Amino acid sequence: MEDQYYVIGQPIGHSMSPTMHNEWFLKNNISGHYSAKEVGVSELESVMTEFRSSVKGFNVTAPLKVEIMQYLDEIDPLAKAIGAVNTVINKNGLLYGKNTDGIGYCRGLSFVLKKPIEQEKILIIGAGGAARAILYSLLHLGVKQITVTNRTLEKAHELVDGKFMNEVNIMSISDAEEKLGQFSLIIQTTSVGMKPNENSIPLSLANLSSNTVVSDLIYSPFKTAFLKDAEQRNAIIQNGLPMFIYQGALAFQEWTGIFPNTIDAYTLLERKLGGTKC
Ligand code: ATR
Repeated sequence: MEDQYYVIGQPIGHSMSPTMHNEWFLKNNISGHYSAKEVGVSELESVMTEFRSSVKGFNVTAPLKVEIMQYLDEIDPLAKAIGAVNTVINKNGLLYGKNTDGIGYCRGLSFVLKKPIEQEKILIIGAGGAARAILYSLLHLGVKQITVTNRTLEKAHELVDGKFMNEVNIMSISDAEEKLGQFSLIIQTTSVGMKPNENSIPLSLANLSSNTVVSDLIYSPFKTAFLKDAEQRNAIIQNGLPMFIYQGALAFQEWTGIFPNTIDAYTLLERKLGGTKC
């Protein structure tokens, strides 16, 4: 029987992970099958008991990325620093947790960055779970010029937790708007721009320098109002699809030892989302 892999979370019906991973299993001649399974917090314990003996690996999405940690035997240091796990590898009945979201995001930037990421002056908008994964992954990669801005400034302070004073600066939204021209990479991690508020943007781009890379983690809508605005101001834009693909590719590599084809996955999922290159 082929090896079984899953993504678990709630809701899970619209996940594109099965399409992507099953295509990679097929293209790499690996006998594996990846499914989506609806699991809420209350079912997690029993599902973990079952998975320990029957599943080779799985991804974890909302609302389980933090909850899952208590059921794992070992957690990678970066995932510990992020405080969340999205990828689990079953090593002979021992469950090993990793977080590929932030590094996946950084790898996905290869589509648009023209210089090494350590040389970028970065603005992160938001201070939730996604911002946390990206911030700690950037720090892990040695990036030293990072500013975090958020509607609730206190949450940005909590995110940094009094550490990384040399690398991370915190700014109000209005200060970030005023000083926007000094950043070379802007990372939008909030839910602003998703349905039903597709016309909202998290901050004004009036002071944006042309050729700045503006990236939004959202991929539905495929091009948010924020990205449309940035594009009109001659920025280089990228949506959240590369991050989604690379976090999956890194998980696939953990399970199989093979880094799969991300370009073909982009074409496949772009078609599925009905998008145009972004
Ligand atoms: P995720 O795990 O997807 O990052 P989250 O942890 O709920 O989600 O974080 C949501 C982020 O979006 C936060 O930075 C939040 O800002 P606050 O800390 O001020 O709540 C931001 N966010 C959500 N709705 C927002 C809105 N309408 N305007 C501005 N920021 C918003």
